[in-house]
Amino acid sequence: MSILFTEQNIGPIKIKNRFISSACEDNLASDTGEVTESIISKNEQIARGETGLLISSQMYVHPLGRTRKKETGIHNDTMIRGLKKLVEIVHKYGGKIVIQLGHAGIQASGNVTGQKPQGPSSDNPLAEGMIHEIIESFVNASLRAAEAGADGIQLHAAHGYLINEFLSPYFNRRKDLWGGSIDNRFRFPGEIIKGIKRVMPDNMAFLIKLNSNDYTPEEGITPPLAAEYASRLSGMNIDGIEVSCGTSMYSPYKMCMGNVPVKELLLKYPDAQTALKNMDGKYALHEGYNSEAARFIKPYFNSGRLFSVGGWREVASMEEAVDGGYTDFISMCRPFIKDPFLVRHIKEKKVSRASCISCNKCLAAFPNDLPVRCYINGF
Ligand SMILES: Cc1cc2nc3c(=O)[nH]c(=O)nc-3n(C[C@H](O)[C@H](O)[C@H](O)COP(=O)(O)O)c2cc1C
Repeated sequence: MSILFTEQNIGPIKIKNRFISSACEDNLASDTGEVTESIISKNEQIARGETGLLISSQMYVHPLGRTRKKETGIHNDTMIRGLKKLVEIVHKYGGKIVIQLGHAGIQASGNVTGQKPQGPSSDNPLAEGMIHEIIESFVNASLRAAEAGADGIQLHAAHGYLINEFLSPYFNRRKDLWGGSIDNRFRFPGEIIKGIKRVMPDNMAFLIKLNSNDYTPEEGITPPLAAEYASRLSGMNIDGIEVSCGTSMYSPYKMCMGNVPVKELLLKYPDAQTALKNMDGKYALHEGYNSEAARFIKPYFNSGRLFSVGGWREVASMEEAVDGGYTDFISMCRPFIKDPFLVRHIKEKKVSRASCISCNKCLAAFPNDLPVRCYINGF
């Protein structure tokens, strides 16, 4: 039997195979952040497709940390009812579900929140009091995830969102307790983790999504710094790290390698023709493109599982990577947008590679305010 279909635990939870559907914001929540029937049905399909672990879309823990109007929220107790339904549908098909907790920092949408986005040291830096308020929001969100019956939580510390901003020497230029040294930059996630660990039930897994490379205009996180953070996370008994890269603001096609969807982006940004055409063709996807970085970081993380997301497409290379111990799981996002039943199709040997061609039109749905789905044939 393929190693991909062997059980593996992440902390206290047992996953039936080595497949994870990575967090995927879908632009499908209600305008007030609740889980909708469309979200339930998307996740139902992925769970019915025998995916071992589903990571939810990023959910905002604080009203000012919202990326867009139709992002799912976990910022108040009225969200719990919908979250319970989401958890139940995944459990019904034998899958596990972890809820991704996030705050968008300077990538928040001012149009939606009504306030200028704030980060550690943007032109609108977070005041001390607000930093504590956000830490508490993460802790309260983890309690809501527990109340909803989720199997765990994942802190979104990648892609240029707030936790990534605190960790990155590019975004974080603070000179106070929250910046200036590795110890100080780690303080924000460290306090969130301590707070959550104090209240989260022991039967839930604690994961974090971490950038191995920020790809910012000046140096941000690079693999050696990510390894340093991984060893600190190990010291805090984190159950799993998912290794990713890139930021939505500066390097979306490093985060999601493949084509630049020029035609679809021009619908929203008609003046960007030259810039977009210059970018196209420069980000050809290569198989498991964060696996080298994950391999570098792995020896520094002993408290749990480590896996990479980004560019897993060929079943043979997935097998080789898990067999070789370079990644404990195969985490994918776009392939499940194209084929929610991908895992079952692999198990039944109906496919030897994912059918997603990384055209990235799913990503271009966001600026065009469309629901995320596979737009391989255009909008
Ligand atoms: C439409 C779309 C939505 C995404 N939403 C999230 C998200 O909510 N949280 C997150 O951590 N990553 C998000 N990502 C990034 C993916 O989880 C993943 O890191 C990236 O797509 C690379 O993996 P892949 O090659 O398997 O698609 C999103 C990606 C896409 C294409």
